[in-house]
Amino acid sequence: MRFLKISLFGLFLFVVFGFFLWAENPPAGKPSAELITQGRGLFNQKEGLKVKFACILCHKQEKAIAKSELKKIGDNLPAIINQYITEKSKGQAISEDSQEMKALMAYIRYEHSK
Ligand code: HEC
Repeated sequence: MRFLKISLFGLFLFVVFGFFLWAENPPAGKPSAELITQGRGLFNQKEGLKVKFACILCHKQEKAIAKSELKKIGDNLPAIINQYITEKSKGQAISEDSQEMKALMAYIRYEHSK
C-alpha cells in the first residue's frame, strides 16, 4: 500500500512537472501563445507598428492571408511583411529579427491565415 502511494505520488509529480515543462517550451515550431497575442495586436492596431493603416483594415475575413500564399512565400515572409508595412500600411519597415517581426509572423502563420 505504501509502495502504491509513493508510486502514485511519483506519477502525479511527473505529470504536473511534465505539463509545466511542456507549457514553458511548446513543441518546436509552434510559437508561444504570448507571441501570437502580441502579433494579433500589431496586426489589428496601427499604434504598435506606427503605421497609418492597420493590416486588418484590408485583411478581414475572406481577405485573410491564405495558407497557400504563405507556403509560396516561405522564408521570404519577413521581407513581404516589410513590403506591406511600407507600401500598404504606410509605415516604416521593421528589423527582420525584431520581436515585432517574430510576433507578426507567429500570428499570421498560426492564427490569422486560412
Ligand atoms: C491597403 C490595404 C492593405 C493593407 C493596409 C495591408 N495589406 Fe497586405 N495585402 C493587401 C492586398 C490587396 C494583398 C494581395 C496581394 C496584392 O495585391 O498585393 C495583400 C497581400 C499580403 C501578403 C501576401 C500574401 C497574399 O495573400 O498575397 C501578406 C503577407 C500581407 N499582405 C501582409 C500584410 C501585413 C502584415 C500588413 C500590415 C502591416 C498588411 N498586409 C497591410 C492589402 C493590404
